[in-house]
Amino acid sequence: VVNISSLYQQEGVFTYDPGYGATGSCESKITFIDGQKGILLYRGYPVEQLAAKSNFMEISYLLLYGELPTKEQLARFDTSIRTHTMLNEGMLRFFTGFRYDAHPMAMLSAVVGSMSAYYHDTMDINNPDAREVFAHRILAKMPTIAAAAYKHTCGQPFVYPRNDLGYCENMLQMFFAVPAEPYEINPVAAEALDLLFILHADHEQNCSTSTVRMAGSSGANPYSAIAAGISALWGPAHGGANEAVLRMLEAIGDVKNIPKFVAKAKDKNDPFRLMGFGHRVYKNFDPRATIIREMCHKVLKQMGRTNSPLFDLALELEQVALKDEYFIEKNLYPNVDFYSGIIYRALGIPTSMFTVMFAIGRTVGWTAHWREMITDPNGRISRPRQLYTGEPTRDYVSIDQR
Ligand code: ACO
Repeated sequence: VVNISSLYQQEGVFTYDPGYGATGSCESKITFIDGQKGILLYRGYPVEQLAAKSNFMEISYLLLYGELPTKEQLARFDTSIRTHTMLNEGMLRFFTGFRYDAHPMAMLSAVVGSMSAYYHDTMDINNPDAREVFAHRILAKMPTIAAAAYKHTCGQPFVYPRNDLGYCENMLQMFFAVPAEPYEINPVAAEALDLLFILHADHEQNCSTSTVRMAGSSGANPYSAIAAGISALWGPAHGGANEAVLRMLEAIGDVKNIPKFVAKAKDKNDPFRLMGFGHRVYKNFDPRATIIREMCHKVLKQMGRTNSPLFDLALELEQVALKDEYFIEKNLYPNVDFYSGIIYRALGIPTSMFTVMFAIGRTVGWTAHWREMITDPNGRISRPRQLYTGEPTRDYVSIDQR
């Protein structure tokens, strides 16, 4: 008979830390967050500077390789990404197997996972060249897969990627072009997407990134690890919040209903939370939310939508919550997802695609972390312990005696 509590004593001390709020699982050089001060750095550069001066391709290079690229390095990287956008034709047929109303996140995680059945040349995780091709391939193909999922839900034919276009321009045409009709890319839409991807690119050991690291730590192929991360991102407490925010704003409907919903969010007997508020690490303004709020103004103005009831509602809700004792006391501020959905909506992207957009931006962060994890000299399989609270040892009773 094993005495369970003495077993724990024999094994020495371990930390019981539900949700890992105080547990560092790895060393990392990629992203730094100071949640008290509202600071976010990618490889040491403040996100505000990167958002104002850089672009998503350059940020992707920075996150993957650790330094800003020279002109030549960026040109080579950009060309490589542009020429890896095509999806194997056999994989395109996967989409026809999904119901037309399948959630795009379900299609995204399934199709990304199935890349391991197609791209065998990148399955050797110990081969640096294979890891390099994988990184470029996943970054390049993510918008193609997302667009195919979107076209499937619309019942429209798939639009092939165009290598002459930049990352966001190409994505817009794959989403919105229809055969035999000219499609003009709106530069404001492309600029807004680029900014959103920069702001979503990485956020250290969040739930989906930790999932990618954990799945990958077993030596599983990187496509499976990224597919696991996509599944983790889908939840409403994480990336799924951008979809939930829009649905919440629609449910509130009018500024006069705000107090009712704020009261619901404070009621401990009601599971409702104000979506887009609060963060595990930020106990101050999420710097990304401030930048996105500004972009919201710009996009709505430049797209001729000066009158946006949803945006007005969001601004008012933010003001009400910021003055509310409950939200002040618990340090609940708008997070990155509070305003992003309003921009996506203005760009014509349907609500069910919002978390997919987040996944496209976060792919480079997941990939950078997977590469860091796989080459970490201290790396070992992720294997947390538990505090067992079940039955003590007992004897098996045969079924006719129970
Ligand atoms: N509305 C109302 N109350 C909230 C909210 C909210 N949005 N967020 C947290 N609280 C309350 C909790 O009820 C809890 O109260 P208590 O101390 O009385 O029990 C307290 O604030 C702390 O909340 P926790 O859930 O313990 O904080 P945690 O760090 O575990 O969770 C999380 C952070 C998941 C982001 C949470 O704030 C939340 O659910 N927010 C809404 C969903 C959301 O916007 N998610 C996106 C996060 S950003 C991202 O992933 C990209």
